[in-house]
Amino acid sequence: MTRTPPALHGPEFEADPHPAYRWLRDHAPVHRIDLPGGAWAWLVTRYDDARSVLADPNMLKDPGRANATWYRAGLGLPFDHRPSLVRSMVNVDAPDHSRLRKVTSGAFTPRRVRSLRESAERITGELLDALTKEEAPDLVRDLAYPLPIAIICDILGVPEEDRAEFHRQAAVIDSSSPDEYEAIGAATDWFDAYLDGLVAARLREPSDDLLGDLVEAHRSGELSRHEVTSTAFLLLVAGHETTVALIGNMLLLLLRDPEEMARLRADHELVGPAIEESLRLESPLQNATWRFPGEPTTVGGVRLEAGEPVLVSLLAAGRDPRRYEDPDVFDPRRGASHLSFGHGAHFCVGAQLARVEARVAVTAVLERLPGLRLAVDEDELRWWPSMIMHGLFALPVAFDRDNS
Ligand code: HEM
Repeated sequence: MTRTPPALHGPEFEADPHPAYRWLRDHAPVHRIDLPGGAWAWLVTRYDDARSVLADPNMLKDPGRANATWYRAGLGLPFDHRPSLVRSMVNVDAPDHSRLRKVTSGAFTPRRVRSLRESAERITGELLDALTKEEAPDLVRDLAYPLPIAIICDILGVPEEDRAEFHRQAAVIDSSSPDEYEAIGAATDWFDAYLDGLVAARLREPSDDLLGDLVEAHRSGELSRHEVTSTAFLLLVAGHETTVALIGNMLLLLLRDPEEMARLRADHELVGPAIEESLRLESPLQNATWRFPGEPTTVGGVRLEAGEPVLVSLLAAGRDPRRYEDPDVFDPRRGASHLSFGHGAHFCVGAQLARVEARVAVTAVLERLPGLRLAVDEDELRWWPSMIMHGLFALPVAFDRDNS
């Protein structure tokens, strides 16, 4: 076994990041990694360390607490330039954090999630009607990608006539490609103006959706207007690609394991546990969002100074053999918990919704696409080249058309 740390970028890592994370867990569980722009960060890869960093109130989320190297490298959000899109719960600490989070949780009451499930079933049905007519169907492009964005539009109450443009602009932001900086900047401008207009409309006419709740909280002085638009933008950024990756990764695990797929087809109750196992094994987010120690601290025996950037690898923690027996095996019956929705104060607000969407999508695929199989060799599949996301660009499939 080599003592040289593996690369955490490039085609080999993107195709299969797990060997690199295995090496780090074994040899450098709290490891200093270089980042673009001369910055660096601590990467935490063991489950126990990951869980304690996520739960630690000394690990602050406010980018204003970061050291100068990180800030200068431009890795943070443009707080100063775009307060209308970044003043959200994921970038703040107590007490602002609980204030912002409380208002948003209204979107995920059992009544709202029930109605979102009905929307998810209807949209999935329509998407699969179209997919079954495609000559070269792709489960990411034709199902996993459009479903969550349609649900986010429902949550925010985006009017029908605006949805096509909303999807188009979101796709530009999702590309996250360094070659697309200008286009991403323009799409961000578009969201800035669009969300502001939506808020103005809700101020004139209240509505029974999350944006309506946020605007009411603004009216009563609980939220600033920037906090309203930033929260709406956060739901788009946090809830879209993550759910795309969950559905795609889960379907790939089933395509690799036809016996498991047959068991799920025969008993849809197994879909829920299989989704949890997929979250553990192929976490849609490689890393949690940035954290910065408020006071110097020690993690896994390594001293971290105040302001030093910390990344927690959810993908690595999910396969830590110190926590899971045979960690690389897909076994929905193990019933293991995981960190893929985070842990502690910033635990994912949309976890229940993401589970509902994945369950609806996967169950419908099992019901409607008999004989489902990959249409290409697995080594031709491409993954997002990203240190943040862990998801597929495309999942081309074939199925038995006579029975669909
Ligand atoms: C499979 C899909 C999803 C995954 C894997 C996921 C994962 C996560 C993780 C790991 C965090 C914690 C980040 C940290 O502590 O650094 C988080 C936070 C968050 N997620 Fe999700 N998420 C998913 C879907 C969603 C959806 C559908 C929504 C809403 C529409 C959503 C909204 C949020 C929000 C608002 C936060 C910030 C919570 C806070 O800072 O208190 N997520 N998510």
